[in-house]
Amino acid sequence: MTPMVAANWKMYKGEPEAVAWTEEVCQHLVPGVQAVVFPPATALTAVRQAAAGRPLALGGQNAFYEPEGAYTGEISPQMLWAAGCRYVLVGHSERRYIFGETDREVALRLRAVLSTELTPMLCVGEQIEDYDRGDYHGAIQRQMGVALKGLEAEEVSRLIVAYEPVWAIGTGRAATVVEAERAADIIRQVIRRLYGSDLEVPIVYGGSVVAENVRSFVEVAHLDGVLVGSGSLDAGAFRALVAEVSGARAP
Ligand code: 13P
Repeated sequence: MTPMVAANWKMYKGEPEAVAWTEEVCQHLVPGVQAVVFPPATALTAVRQAAAGRPLALGGQNAFYEPEGAYTGEISPQMLWAAGCRYVLVGHSERRYIFGETDREVALRLRAVLSTELTPMLCVGEQIEDYDRGDYHGAIQRQMGVALKGLEAEEVSRLIVAYEPVWAIGTGRAATVVEAERAADIIRQVIRRLYGSDLEVPIVYGGSVVAENVRSFVEVAHLDGVLVGSGSLDAGAFRALVAEVSGARAP
């Protein structure tokens, strides 16, 4: 897969800032890196218009498991697709731990996304309590197991998995290369156990990624990209990430 640099803006940026960021970033995109932005829903249309004709892909931050209905506050995968999204985050740790989305609910959302042409980015990762106990694999195995239950190999082949250790999100303390590689191995093992060794799924890392450490994930740990929160909000910082990744993968 072309290495991905994805910006998750979370609940930041209204339309004017979103458009300014998009215009600046679009002038500096380079071939060989897939740039993606996950804006708040209220800025999706403005970003799509500002990025028209440029290779900046659009994503939704979450999607509900019904196509439409009386579900105040939710957005369906079909609606995100119609708004121009090609990717969607599923099971981000902020959804799991602030909004109480269970593994089972994440699985329902994942299925609904897979019933459309959107590419889901399934987020998994352990919390600080697990990390402190040295249990870096239990949460990932559980989250992956529940999310994939009952899915066909063809569906799983359309996934991207984001390893986002909760203790690294917004803390300035990114995982090390060894930790990221170890988590990626666990993710691959779960998929291999369920679907055989032929099924390869792209894996990206998220959690305190900045220009100074991004190469360690795509070059040293050989991951397929990064999912960046706070380090993506400034257009110049995001451009620097894209430039680093393009340099890391240059022939
Ligand atoms: P930070 O880059 O702010 O640590 O956030 C990571 C994240 O949650 C991306 O989805």
